[in-house]
Amino acid sequence: MLTDTKHKWWQSTVFYEIYMASFQDGNGDGIGDFKGLTSRLDYLQDLGVNGLWITPFYPSPKVDNGYDVADYFNVDPDFGSLEDFDHFIEKAHARGIRVIIDVVLNHVSTEHAWFREAVSNPESKYRDYFFFQDEPNGWESFFGGSAWEKEPDGTQVYYHKFAPEQADLNWQNKAVRDDMLRVLKFWLDRGVDGFRLDVINFLSCNGIGEENLHRDSKGRQIHDHDIDQPGIYDCISEICDFVRDYSARRGKESFLVGEVGHEELSKLAPYQRDDLLDVVFNFNLGSMGSFDIGEIHGQLVAMEDQLVGLPTIFFNSHDMARSMSRLCHDNAEQAAALAALTLMAKGVSFLYFGEEIGMPDYIPQSVSEMQDVQAVNHYQLALAEGKSISEAYDKALEECRDKSRLYMQWNDDKFSGFSRSTPWIGETAPNNLPKVEEQINDPDSLWHWYKTLIALRRDNPALNFGNYDILSLEKGLLTFARRRQNKIIHIQINFSDQKHPVNHNPSHEVLASKGLDLGEPDYLLPFGTLITREVQDVC
Ligand code: GLC
Repeated sequence: MLTDTKHKWWQSTVFYEIYMASFQDGNGDGIGDFKGLTSRLDYLQDLGVNGLWITPFYPSPKVDNGYDVADYFNVDPDFGSLEDFDHFIEKAHARGIRVIIDVVLNHVSTEHAWFREAVSNPESKYRDYFFFQDEPNGWESFFGGSAWEKEPDGTQVYYHKFAPEQADLNWQNKAVRDDMLRVLKFWLDRGVDGFRLDVINFLSCNGIGEENLHRDSKGRQIHDHDIDQPGIYDCISEICDFVRDYSARRGKESFLVGEVGHEELSKLAPYQRDDLLDVVFNFNLGSMGSFDIGEIHGQLVAMEDQLVGLPTIFFNSHDMARSMSRLCHDNAEQAAALAALTLMAKGVSFLYFGEEIGMPDYIPQSVSEMQDVQAVNHYQLALAEGKSISEAYDKALEECRDKSRLYMQWNDDKFSGFSRSTPWIGETAPNNLPKVEEQINDPDSLWHWYKTLIALRRDNPALNFGNYDILSLEKGLLTFARRRQNKIIHIQINFSDQKHPVNHNPSHEVLASKGLDLGEPDYLLPFGTLITREVQDVC
């Protein structure tokens, strides 16, 4: 439930995630960067988004595309310089666009000075920044295989929840916590408006304890003891308190969104509260494997019941296959309906670059074209288990997050402004993908539908702060109404493959529609949407 107290800026913000390497190259080296991103701020402003989440841009060997940070206080030369960053923030703010940055607090690159020092000098204070043991326990990495790796030139093993090149930090150590607060302060001083906290419930704040004894139906280890450790709320609250106090002292209000990995909403919900995170991502909704409007409706209802404050609404990110392929099977009408849900339902909307033109998945044709460490790791594990090359490729493709990381399809050029030599992705990308330029020139395009919805959202407080008056699903017709004071926005989206009679009160103003078939009665065609506004008399 959202109470009508003072509103925060992020409650009326439509966020747009930028995957740094793939958005816009500004210096011709084939990698997206801050210069390129700054040059596209007019585009973003025109689309109407007023918040950006940018993925890690810090110096990194990029084993996990930047989620392996080697230096928290700088910009990777591939992405530009600190000056480019400052210039970008200044220009974004000048357009009324706020910026949150991704911070990776759970682990560092094994090329980070702390880890190098920890292995080269076992007596150094940095040894206790990590977890070293003589023997591994049975914990498994989220990328597959053991979560322990032998230290280079040493006798012990160290702990890593992700790739071996991403060593987990020991959050029991106060020095680690203090150092990370310094990182947050550094970027707040440079003007960022908040943080996306990477895998924040994974922080190891209670050390290495019991074994994880259970497996799920797919044979994956259930992370009973390596995540959500005792003490995790205190750890996160220390981070959140620091950010809020430091920002408040500078007259600012920072936004904190957490990536909290859970399959049960009831486990995710406690992380969202006044002294913890402002909002958490709900992946049960965002990364659902196939389209199921019953499940979506169930999640909307459950979030209403279980979350304090606003939920998040998204169906795309750099970690999952694109909704156009995964959920909509290339059906542009269905993508338009999903856009209406993403932008009209109650919650902070997060869009992912390229979603506004309906970019589908990129399918690497062989494992040599895959950049994603998770995919490559699964490929090797499958081969080691005796699977054939083609079975191993299938497994790798299933896990491969490159699907959503192809460079933005700005125009008709084969590489859309990204040089052929890009070390990222795309050698075999087809050239018949949707293009921004084409869609801007076509008033009926998905791009224009997104722009209309974003503008509606920004112009109608009921769509930002309004609670649900109705939230129902009947034969595939999702109906909801968002009320704020005497204004009610009615939204009806037909998620069925049949036309559906629609409730169209002539006294309500039509704000936007798609697939509306006027007659006696009025119908919504499959995946059609009707958005109307009712203004009630105030007695
Ligand atoms: C988060 C990121 C993902 C990364 C992982 C490890 O889940 O979104 O891309 O691989 O953390 O840092």
